[in-house]
Amino acid sequence: MEKDHRLTPFFTKLLEYANSHTIAHDVPGHKLGQIPNDLIDITGPMMFKLDANAPRGLDNLNRPTGVIKEAADLMADAFGAEKAYFLTGGTTMGILAMVMAVCRAKEKIILPRNVHKSAINALILSGAVPVFVKPYIDHELGIANHIDFHEVEQAILDNPEAKAVFVINPTYFGVVSDLKKIVEFAHERDMMVIVDEAHGSHFPFSPHLPMSSMEAGADMSSCSLHKTVGSLTQSSILITQGSRVDHIRLRSTINMIQSTSPSSLLLASLDVARKAMYFDGPTHFPILIEMAHQTRLKINKIPGLRAVDGSYFVKNQSFDYDETKLIVKVSGLGITGFDVYKELFDEHHIQLELAETHLILAVLSIGTRQTDLDALVEALVVISKKYKPMKLKPLLPKIKYSYPEAYTRPREAYHAPKKYVPLNQAVDEIAAESVMIYPPGIPIVIPGEIISQDILDDLDFYQKSGSVILSDTEGGYIKIIDKEYWEKWSVIYEDE
Ligand SMILES: Cc1ncc(COP(=O)(O)O)c(C=O)c1O
Repeated sequence: MEKDHRLTPFFTKLLEYANSHTIAHDVPGHKLGQIPNDLIDITGPMMFKLDANAPRGLDNLNRPTGVIKEAADLMADAFGAEKAYFLTGGTTMGILAMVMAVCRAKEKIILPRNVHKSAINALILSGAVPVFVKPYIDHELGIANHIDFHEVEQAILDNPEAKAVFVINPTYFGVVSDLKKIVEFAHERDMMVIVDEAHGSHFPFSPHLPMSSMEAGADMSSCSLHKTVGSLTQSSILITQGSRVDHIRLRSTINMIQSTSPSSLLLASLDVARKAMYFDGPTHFPILIEMAHQTRLKINKIPGLRAVDGSYFVKNQSFDYDETKLIVKVSGLGITGFDVYKELFDEHHIQLELAETHLILAVLSIGTRQTDLDALVEALVVISKKYKPMKLKPLLPKIKYSYPEAYTRPREAYHAPKKYVPLNQAVDEIAAESVMIYPPGIPIVIPGEIISQDILDDLDFYQKSGSVILSDTEGGYIKIIDKEYWEKWSVIYEDE
Protein backbone atom coordinates (compact mmCIF):
# COMPACT_ATOMS: atom_id res chain seq x y z
CA MET A 1 0.00 0.00 0.00
CA GLU A 2 1.25 3.45 -0.86
CA LYS A 3 2.49 5.37 2.17
CA ASP A 4 1.20 8.80 3.04
CA HIS A 5 4.35 10.90 3.48
CA ARG A 6 2.38 13.89 4.75
CA LEU A 7 2.14 12.03 8.06
CA THR A 8 4.64 12.54 10.87
CA PRO A 9 3.43 9.93 13.40
CA PHE A 10 6.08 10.43 16.07
CA PHE A 11 6.27 14.21 15.85
CA THR A 12 2.47 14.53 15.87
CA LYS A 13 2.11 12.38 19.00
CA LEU A 14 4.99 14.19 20.71
CA LEU A 15 3.41 17.56 20.02
CA GLU A 16 0.11 16.28 21.38
CA TYR A 17 1.92 15.21 24.57
CA ALA A 18 3.81 18.53 24.88
CA ASN A 19 0.50 20.41 24.72
CA SER A 20 -1.39 18.03 26.99
CA HIS A 21 -0.55 19.66 30.38
CA THR A 22 0.31 16.21 31.74
CA ILE A 23 1.75 16.30 35.26
CA ALA A 24 5.27 14.95 34.84
CA HIS A 25 6.38 12.67 37.65
CA ASP A 26 8.87 10.95 35.36
CA VAL A 27 12.24 11.92 33.97
CA PRO A 28 13.63 14.15 32.47
CA GLY A 29 14.10 16.20 35.60
CA HIS A 30 13.46 19.52 33.88
CA LYS A 31 9.76 18.47 34.06
CA LEU A 32 8.88 19.69 30.59
CA GLY A 33 10.83 22.90 31.14
CA GLN A 34 9.78 23.76 34.70
CA ILE A 35 13.33 24.47 35.87
CA PRO A 36 14.23 27.87 34.45
CA ASN A 37 17.55 28.03 32.64
CA ASP A 38 19.45 30.16 30.17
CA LEU A 39 18.59 27.94 27.20
CA ILE A 40 14.82 28.15 27.81
CA ASP A 41 15.20 31.94 27.93
CA ILE A 42 16.54 31.81 24.38
CA THR A 43 14.51 29.01 22.80
CA GLY A 44 11.23 29.48 24.63
CA PRO A 45 9.53 26.68 26.59
CA MET A 46 8.57 24.47 23.64
CA MET A 47 11.95 22.86 23.11
CA PHE A 48 11.94 21.45 26.65
CA LYS A 49 8.25 20.50 26.44
CA LEU A 50 9.12 18.42 23.39
CA ASP A 51 11.95 16.75 25.27
CA ALA A 52 9.96 13.87 26.73
CA ASN A 53 11.39 10.53 27.77
CA ALA A 54 8.97 7.64 27.44
CA PRO A 55 5.41 8.70 28.25
CA ARG A 56 2.55 6.37 27.35
CA GLY A 57 1.71 6.52 23.68
CA LEU A 58 5.13 7.62 22.50
CA ASP A 59 6.36 4.07 21.85
CA ASN A 60 9.73 2.54 22.74
CA LEU A 61 12.77 2.85 20.51
CA ASN A 62 14.15 -0.48 21.79
CA ARG A 63 11.21 -2.39 20.34
CA PRO A 64 8.89 -0.05 18.50
CA THR A 65 5.30 -1.09 17.90
CA GLY A 66 3.49 2.25 17.76
CA VAL A 67 4.32 5.72 16.49
CA ILE A 68 8.09 5.09 16.25
CA LYS A 69 7.39 2.03 14.11
CA GLU A 70 5.01 4.01 11.91
CA ALA A 71 7.61 6.79 11.50
CA ALA A 72 10.35 4.23 10.78
CA ASP A 73 8.17 2.51 8.17
CA LEU A 74 7.68 5.85 6.39
CA MET A 75 11.44 6.42 6.61
CA ALA A 76 12.16 3.02 5.07
CA ASP A 77 9.72 3.75 2.28
CA ALA A 78 11.30 7.14 1.53
CA PHE A 79 14.74 5.51 1.31
CA GLY A 80 13.61 2.55 -0.79
CA ALA A 81 14.49 0.22 2.10
CA GLU A 82 12.52 -2.59 3.72
CA LYS A 83 13.27 -1.56 7.28
CA ALA A 84 14.60 1.51 9.06
CA TYR A 85 15.99 1.90 12.56
CA PHE A 86 16.17 5.37 14.12
CA LEU A 87 19.51 6.18 15.76
CA THR A 88 20.29 8.91 18.25
CA GLY A 89 24.05 8.36 18.23
CA GLY A 90 24.74 9.38 14.64
CA THR A 91 26.06 7.20 11.86
CA THR A 92 28.95 6.53 14.22
CA MET A 93 26.49 4.32 16.03
CA GLY A 94 25.08 2.91 12.80
CA ILE A 95 28.52 1.81 11.68
CA LEU A 96 29.28 0.19 15.03
CA ALA A 97 25.96 -1.65 14.88
CA MET A 98 26.33 -2.82 11.27
CA VAL A 99 29.84 -4.18 11.70
CA MET A 100 29.13 -5.80 15.08
CA ALA A 101 25.97 -7.39 13.73
CA VAL A 102 27.80 -8.88 10.76
CA CYS A 103 31.27 -9.86 12.05
CA ARG A 104 32.21 -11.96 15.03
CA ALA A 105 35.74 -11.80 16.45
CA LYS A 106 38.41 -12.94 14.00
CA GLU A 107 36.02 -12.86 11.03
CA LYS A 108 37.16 -10.79 8.08
CA ILE A 109 35.64 -7.64 6.64
CA ILE A 110 36.84 -5.91 3.45
CA LEU A 111 36.93 -2.13 3.74
CA PRO A 112 38.67 0.92 2.29
CA ARG A 113 41.56 2.25 4.36
CA ASN A 114 40.12 5.80 4.29
CA VAL A 115 37.19 4.86 6.55
CA HIS A 116 35.87 7.09 9.28
CA LYS A 117 37.17 6.38 12.78
CA SER A 118 33.85 4.77 13.74
CA ALA A 119 34.64 1.88 11.38
CA ILE A 120 37.99 1.37 13.09
CA ASN A 121 36.25 1.44 16.47
CA ALA A 122 33.77 -1.10 15.10
CA LEU A 123 36.73 -3.38 14.36
CA ILE A 124 37.90 -3.00 17.94
CA LEU A 125 34.47 -3.71 19.40
CA SER A 126 33.65 -6.63 17.11
CA GLY A 127 37.16 -8.10 17.00
CA ALA A 128 36.89 -8.39 13.21
CA VAL A 129 39.97 -8.64 11.02
CA PRO A 130 40.21 -5.82 8.49
CA VAL A 131 41.21 -6.51 4.90
CA PHE A 132 42.01 -3.03 3.71
CA VAL A 133 41.58 -1.91 0.12
CA LYS A 134 43.72 1.07 -0.84
CA PRO A 135 41.59 3.96 -2.06
CA TYR A 136 42.49 5.95 -5.16
CA ILE A 137 44.83 8.73 -4.15
CA ASP A 138 44.27 12.04 -5.90
CA HIS A 139 47.68 13.71 -5.72
CA GLU A 140 46.44 16.82 -7.47
CA LEU A 141 43.92 17.56 -4.71
CA GLY A 142 45.78 15.69 -1.99
CA ILE A 143 42.89 13.48 -0.91
CA ALA A 144 41.91 9.80 -0.86
CA ASN A 145 38.85 9.04 -2.99
CA HIS A 146 36.88 6.02 -4.21
CA ILE A 147 37.86 2.37 -4.26
CA ASP A 148 38.36 0.72 -7.61
CA PHE A 149 36.03 -2.19 -8.38
CA HIS A 150 38.92 -4.43 -9.46
CA GLU A 151 40.72 -3.89 -6.15
CA VAL A 152 37.58 -4.92 -4.29
CA GLU A 153 37.07 -7.85 -6.62
CA GLN A 154 40.62 -9.04 -5.91
CA ALA A 155 40.16 -8.62 -2.15
CA ILE A 156 36.97 -10.69 -2.35
CA LEU A 157 38.68 -13.42 -4.39
CA ASP A 158 41.67 -13.46 -2.00
CA ASN A 159 39.44 -13.58 1.07
CA PRO A 160 36.43 -15.72 0.17
CA GLU A 161 35.67 -16.31 3.84
CA ALA A 162 35.14 -12.56 4.52
CA LYS A 163 31.70 -11.79 5.91
CA ALA A 164 31.15 -8.41 4.35
CA VAL A 165 32.37 -5.58 2.16
CA PHE A 166 32.12 -2.09 3.60
CA VAL A 167 31.74 0.81 1.15
CA ILE A 168 31.65 4.59 1.66
CA ASN A 169 28.89 6.19 -0.45
CA PRO A 170 30.08 8.92 -0.96
CA THR A 171 33.39 9.89 0.63
CA TYR A 172 33.51 13.08 2.67
CA PHE A 173 34.43 14.84 -0.58
CA GLY A 174 31.45 13.45 -2.53
CA VAL A 175 33.25 10.78 -4.55
CA VAL A 176 31.41 7.57 -5.31
CA SER A 177 32.64 4.04 -6.13
CA ASP A 178 30.76 1.61 -8.37
CA LEU A 179 28.62 0.33 -5.54
CA LYS A 180 26.18 -1.64 -7.70
CA LYS A 181 28.98 -3.65 -9.30
CA ILE A 182 30.57 -4.27 -5.90
CA VAL A 183 27.22 -5.43 -4.50
CA GLU A 184 26.61 -7.82 -7.39
CA PHE A 185 30.06 -9.38 -7.11
CA ALA A 186 29.94 -9.63 -3.30
CA HIS A 187 26.46 -11.16 -3.32
CA GLU A 188 27.52 -13.78 -5.86
CA ARG A 189 30.10 -14.83 -3.27
CA ASP A 190 27.65 -14.71 -0.42
CA MET A 191 29.13 -11.62 1.21
CA MET A 192 27.05 -8.82 2.60
CA VAL A 193 27.56 -5.20 1.59
CA ILE A 194 27.26 -2.58 4.27
CA VAL A 195 27.46 1.10 3.49
CA ASP A 196 28.64 4.20 5.26
CA GLU A 197 26.22 6.68 3.76
CA ALA A 198 26.86 9.40 6.34
CA HIS A 199 27.31 11.95 3.56
CA GLY A 200 24.75 10.53 1.13
CA SER A 201 21.40 10.61 2.95
CA HIS A 202 20.00 12.90 0.26
CA PHE A 203 20.76 10.54 -2.63
CA PRO A 204 17.33 8.86 -2.76
CA PHE A 205 15.60 12.19 -3.27
CA SER A 206 16.80 13.13 -6.75
CA PRO A 207 17.82 11.33 -9.93
CA HIS A 208 20.46 14.05 -10.33
CA LEU A 209 22.39 12.64 -7.39
CA PRO A 210 24.49 9.45 -7.28
CA MET A 211 22.83 6.09 -6.76
CA SER A 212 21.75 5.39 -3.19
CA SER A 213 22.85 2.28 -1.27
CA MET A 214 19.42 0.68 -1.42
CA GLU A 215 19.07 1.30 -5.14
CA ALA A 216 22.47 -0.33 -5.64
CA GLY A 217 21.20 -3.40 -3.78
CA ALA A 218 23.30 -3.09 -0.59
CA ASP A 219 22.12 -4.99 2.49
CA MET A 220 22.54 -2.28 5.10
CA SER A 221 23.43 1.36 5.24
CA SER A 222 23.69 4.07 7.82
CA CYS A 223 22.78 7.61 6.81
CA SER A 224 23.41 10.83 8.72
CA LEU A 225 20.19 12.68 7.99
CA HIS A 226 21.58 15.45 10.16
CA LYS A 227 24.39 16.09 7.66
CA THR A 228 22.49 16.69 4.42
CA VAL A 229 18.77 16.11 4.93
CA GLY A 230 17.96 18.56 7.71
CA SER A 231 17.31 16.66 10.95
CA LEU A 232 19.01 17.62 14.22
CA THR A 233 22.68 16.84 14.77
CA GLN A 234 23.28 13.26 15.93
CA SER A 235 20.09 11.87 14.38
CA SER A 236 20.74 9.11 11.85
CA ILE A 237 19.10 5.99 10.51
CA LEU A 238 20.13 2.45 9.75
CA ILE A 239 18.28 1.01 6.74
CA THR A 240 18.20 -2.54 5.44
CA GLN A 241 16.81 -4.74 2.72
CA GLY A 242 16.92 -8.39 1.76
CA SER A 243 17.15 -11.74 3.49
CA ARG A 244 20.84 -11.62 4.43
CA VAL A 245 20.12 -9.27 7.35
CA ASP A 246 19.68 -11.00 10.71
CA HIS A 247 17.25 -8.58 12.34
CA ILE A 248 17.34 -10.24 15.75
CA ARG A 249 21.11 -9.82 15.93
CA LEU A 250 20.96 -6.31 14.47
CA ARG A 251 18.24 -5.16 16.86
CA SER A 252 20.08 -6.55 19.89
CA THR A 253 23.32 -4.86 18.75
CA ILE A 254 21.57 -1.52 18.25
CA ASN A 255 19.93 -1.80 21.66
CA MET A 256 23.30 -2.57 23.23
CA ILE A 257 24.76 0.77 22.12
CA GLN A 258 21.68 3.00 21.97
CA SER A 259 20.73 5.02 25.04
CA THR A 260 17.68 3.78 26.91
CA SER A 261 16.66 7.45 27.03
CA PRO A 262 16.81 8.48 23.38
CA SER A 263 16.12 12.14 22.69
CA SER A 264 12.55 12.65 21.51
CA LEU A 265 13.69 15.87 19.82
CA LEU A 266 16.14 13.92 17.69
CA LEU A 267 13.54 11.28 16.80
CA ALA A 268 10.95 13.94 15.92
CA SER A 269 13.49 15.76 13.81
CA LEU A 270 14.02 12.59 11.76
CA ASP A 271 10.29 12.28 11.22
CA VAL A 272 9.79 15.86 10.01
CA ALA A 273 13.01 15.95 7.95
CA ARG A 274 11.86 12.85 6.06
CA LYS A 275 8.54 14.49 5.22
CA ALA A 276 10.18 17.74 4.09
CA MET A 277 12.80 15.99 1.98
CA TYR A 278 10.26 13.63 0.42
CA PHE A 279 8.25 16.56 -0.91
CA ASP A 280 10.93 19.25 -1.44
CA GLY A 281 14.01 17.22 -2.46
CA PRO A 282 12.97 16.33 -6.00
CA THR A 283 12.28 19.96 -6.97
CA HIS A 284 15.08 21.61 -5.00
CA PHE A 285 18.08 19.40 -5.84
CA PRO A 286 18.22 20.31 -9.56
CA ILE A 287 18.11 23.99 -8.53
CA LEU A 288 20.87 23.47 -5.95
CA ILE A 289 23.05 21.59 -8.43
CA GLU A 290 22.67 24.40 -10.95
CA MET A 291 23.54 26.96 -8.24
CA ALA A 292 26.66 24.93 -7.42
CA HIS A 293 27.56 24.74 -11.11
CA GLN A 294 27.28 28.51 -11.57
CA THR A 295 29.31 29.05 -8.39
CA ARG A 296 32.11 26.82 -9.72
CA LEU A 297 32.18 28.83 -12.95
CA LYS A 298 32.58 32.05 -10.95
CA ILE A 299 35.27 30.58 -8.70
CA ASN A 300 37.21 29.31 -11.69
CA LYS A 301 37.57 32.90 -12.89
CA ILE A 302 39.30 33.89 -9.63
CA PRO A 303 43.10 33.83 -10.03
CA GLY A 304 44.80 31.01 -8.11
CA LEU A 305 41.60 29.06 -7.41
CA ARG A 306 40.02 26.01 -9.01
CA ALA A 307 36.61 24.50 -8.30
CA VAL A 308 36.28 20.92 -9.47
CA ASP A 309 33.10 19.06 -10.44
CA GLY A 310 32.00 15.58 -11.37
CA SER A 311 33.77 15.59 -14.73
CA TYR A 312 37.11 15.96 -12.91
CA PHE A 313 36.45 12.97 -10.67
CA VAL A 314 35.03 10.76 -13.38
CA LYS A 315 38.16 11.52 -15.45
CA ASN A 316 40.08 10.28 -12.42
CA GLN A 317 38.28 6.93 -12.53
CA SER A 318 35.67 7.50 -9.87
CA PHE A 319 32.21 6.21 -10.69
CA ASP A 320 30.17 9.30 -9.93
CA TYR A 321 30.20 12.52 -7.92
CA ASP A 322 27.82 14.30 -5.60
CA GLU A 323 27.64 17.81 -7.05
CA THR A 324 26.32 19.23 -3.77
CA LYS A 325 29.86 19.07 -2.41
CA LEU A 326 31.83 22.15 -3.37
CA ILE A 327 35.59 21.59 -3.45
CA VAL A 328 37.88 24.53 -4.14
CA LYS A 329 41.59 23.99 -4.67
CA VAL A 330 43.31 26.99 -3.09
CA SER A 331 46.94 25.95 -2.97
CA GLY A 332 47.54 27.74 -6.29
CA LEU A 333 47.69 30.89 -4.14
CA GLY A 334 50.67 29.45 -2.27
CA ILE A 335 48.61 29.00 0.91
CA THR A 336 46.91 25.94 2.39
CA GLY A 337 43.25 25.06 2.68
CA PHE A 338 43.73 25.41 6.43
CA ASP A 339 44.79 29.06 5.96
CA VAL A 340 41.75 29.84 3.79
CA TYR A 341 39.38 27.98 6.14
CA LYS A 342 40.60 30.12 9.04
CA GLU A 343 40.56 33.38 7.08
CA LEU A 344 37.03 32.77 5.76
CA PHE A 345 35.80 32.39 9.32
CA ASP A 346 37.87 35.12 10.96
CA GLU A 347 37.47 37.78 8.28
CA HIS A 348 34.27 36.88 6.42
CA HIS A 349 32.02 35.03 8.91
CA ILE A 350 31.93 31.98 6.68
CA GLN A 351 32.15 28.52 8.22
CA LEU A 352 33.26 25.73 5.89
CA GLU A 353 32.90 22.02 6.43
CA LEU A 354 36.60 21.27 6.28
CA ALA A 355 40.01 22.10 4.96
CA GLU A 356 42.78 19.93 3.61
CA THR A 357 46.27 20.91 2.59
CA HIS A 358 45.26 21.89 -0.94
CA LEU A 359 41.56 22.54 -0.71
CA ILE A 360 38.49 23.68 1.14
CA LEU A 361 35.14 21.90 1.16
CA ALA A 362 31.69 23.45 1.46
CA VAL A 363 28.80 21.04 1.98
CA LEU A 364 25.64 22.36 0.35
CA SER A 365 22.06 21.34 1.04
CA ILE A 366 18.66 22.48 -0.12
CA GLY A 367 18.92 24.95 2.78
CA THR A 368 21.80 26.73 1.01
CA ARG A 369 20.72 30.11 -0.42
CA GLN A 370 22.10 31.85 -3.48
CA THR A 371 23.24 34.73 -1.24
CA ASP A 372 25.29 32.27 0.84
CA LEU A 373 27.14 31.12 -2.28
CA ASP A 374 27.59 34.73 -3.46
CA ALA A 375 29.16 35.58 -0.08
CA LEU A 376 31.62 32.71 -0.48
CA VAL A 377 32.59 33.81 -3.99
CA GLU A 378 33.05 37.43 -2.84
CA ALA A 379 35.23 36.35 0.08
CA LEU A 380 37.35 34.16 -2.19
CA VAL A 381 37.87 37.13 -4.52
CA VAL A 382 39.17 39.15 -1.55
CA ILE A 383 41.49 36.32 -0.47
CA SER A 384 42.82 35.87 -4.00
CA LYS A 385 43.49 39.62 -4.34
CA LYS A 386 45.40 39.53 -1.06
CA TYR A 387 47.63 36.53 -1.74
CA LYS A 388 48.06 36.43 -5.52
CA PRO A 389 50.30 39.55 -5.70
CA MET A 390 52.56 38.06 -2.99
CA LYS A 391 53.66 35.47 -5.55
CA LEU A 392 54.12 32.85 -2.86
CA LYS A 393 55.76 29.63 -3.97
CA PRO A 394 53.15 27.11 -5.14
CA LEU A 395 52.50 24.58 -2.44
CA LEU A 396 54.11 21.25 -3.13
CA PRO A 397 52.35 18.07 -2.12
CA LYS A 398 54.08 17.11 1.10
CA ILE A 399 51.80 14.33 2.16
CA LYS A 400 52.98 10.83 1.35
CA TYR A 401 49.68 8.97 1.85
CA SER A 402 51.50 5.78 2.57
CA TYR A 403 49.26 3.30 4.32
CA PRO A 404 50.88 1.52 7.22
CA GLU A 405 51.26 -2.20 7.37
CA ALA A 406 49.03 -4.06 9.83
CA TYR A 407 50.78 -6.12 12.47
CA THR A 408 47.81 -7.30 14.51
CA ARG A 409 44.02 -6.95 14.78
CA PRO A 410 42.85 -3.55 16.03
CA ARG A 411 41.10 -5.23 18.96
CA GLU A 412 44.24 -7.08 20.02
CA ALA A 413 46.26 -3.88 19.88
CA TYR A 414 43.57 -2.04 21.83
CA HIS A 415 43.76 -4.58 24.67
CA ALA A 416 47.54 -5.08 24.66
CA PRO A 417 49.81 -3.60 27.36
CA LYS A 418 50.89 -0.14 26.30
CA LYS A 419 53.49 2.50 26.80
CA TYR A 420 53.91 6.08 25.63
CA VAL A 421 56.82 7.27 23.53
CA PRO A 422 57.66 10.61 21.88
CA LEU A 423 56.55 10.58 18.23
CA ASN A 424 60.13 10.76 16.99
CA GLN A 425 60.93 7.49 18.79
CA ALA A 426 57.91 5.61 17.46
CA VAL A 427 59.23 4.37 14.10
CA ASP A 428 58.65 0.62 13.64
CA GLU A 429 56.59 0.40 16.85
CA ILE A 430 53.00 -0.95 16.80
CA ALA A 431 50.36 1.74 17.32
CA ALA A 432 47.90 1.19 20.15
CA GLU A 433 45.67 4.16 19.28
CA SER A 434 44.15 5.86 16.27
CA VAL A 435 45.60 9.20 15.23
CA MET A 436 43.65 11.37 12.82
CA ILE A 437 43.13 14.91 11.66
CA TYR A 438 39.62 16.16 12.35
CA PRO A 439 37.66 16.78 10.26
CA PRO A 440 37.51 14.45 8.30
CA GLY A 441 38.32 12.02 11.15
CA ILE A 442 39.98 9.43 8.92
CA PRO A 443 42.76 7.76 10.91
CA ILE A 444 46.30 8.10 9.59
CA VAL A 445 47.31 5.19 11.79
CA ILE A 446 45.10 2.71 13.68
CA PRO A 447 45.72 0.28 16.54
CA GLY A 448 47.77 -2.68 15.35
CA GLU A 449 49.55 -0.89 12.51
CA ILE A 450 53.30 -0.36 12.29
CA ILE A 451 54.27 3.29 12.59
CA SER A 452 56.50 4.30 9.68
CA GLN A 453 58.63 7.38 9.13
CA ASP A 454 56.24 8.42 6.32
CA ILE A 455 53.33 8.44 8.77
CA LEU A 456 55.29 10.56 11.21
CA ASP A 457 56.26 12.98 8.43
CA ASP A 458 52.61 13.33 7.39
CA LEU A 459 51.59 13.96 10.98
CA ASP A 460 54.33 16.53 11.40
CA PHE A 461 53.12 18.32 8.28
CA TYR A 462 49.51 18.35 9.48
CA GLN A 463 50.61 19.60 12.89
CA LYS A 464 52.61 22.45 11.38
CA SER A 465 49.77 23.43 9.05
CA GLY A 466 47.52 23.99 12.05
CA SER A 467 45.04 21.14 11.65
CA VAL A 468 43.37 19.55 14.63
CA ILE A 469 44.98 16.22 15.41
CA LEU A 470 42.91 13.82 17.47
CA SER A 471 44.39 10.97 19.45
CA ASP A 472 44.24 9.63 23.01
CA THR A 473 47.71 10.96 23.75
CA GLU A 474 48.77 14.59 23.75
CA GLY A 475 51.96 16.62 23.67
CA GLY A 476 53.94 14.90 20.92
CA TYR A 477 53.59 11.39 22.35
CA ILE A 478 51.91 8.29 20.93
CA LYS A 479 50.54 5.18 22.61
CA ILE A 480 52.25 2.01 21.38
CA ILE A 481 52.16 -1.67 22.30
CA ASP A 482 54.68 -2.52 25.00
CA LYS A 483 56.10 -5.55 23.21
CA GLU A 484 58.04 -6.82 26.19
CA TYR A 485 54.93 -7.16 28.37
CA TRP A 486 52.73 -8.11 25.43
CA GLU A 487 54.53 -11.41 25.00
CA LYS A 488 54.21 -12.26 28.69
CA TRP A 489 50.63 -11.04 28.79
CA SER A 490 49.43 -12.84 25.69
CA VAL A 491 50.40 -16.14 27.32
CA ILE A 492 48.02 -15.53 30.19
CA TYR A 493 45.26 -13.80 28.22
CA GLU A 494 43.25 -15.69 25.66
CA ASP A 495 41.62 -13.12 23.40
CA GLU A 496 38.33 -14.75 22.36
C1 LIG B 1 32.59 9.25 6.27
C2 LIG B 1 31.90 9.37 7.60
N1 LIG B 1 31.32 8.29 8.12
C3 LIG B 1 30.69 8.34 9.31
C4 LIG B 1 30.63 9.50 10.04
C5 LIG B 1 29.93 9.51 11.36
O1 LIG B 1 28.69 10.12 11.23
P1 LIG B 1 27.96 10.84 12.45
O2 LIG B 1 28.58 12.19 12.60
O3 LIG B 1 26.53 10.91 12.02
O4 LIG B 1 28.14 10.01 13.66
C6 LIG B 1 31.23 10.65 9.52
C7 LIG B 1 31.19 11.91 10.28
O5 LIG B 1 31.71 12.91 9.92
C8 LIG B 1 31.89 10.58 8.27
O6 LIG B 1 32.51 11.66 7.76
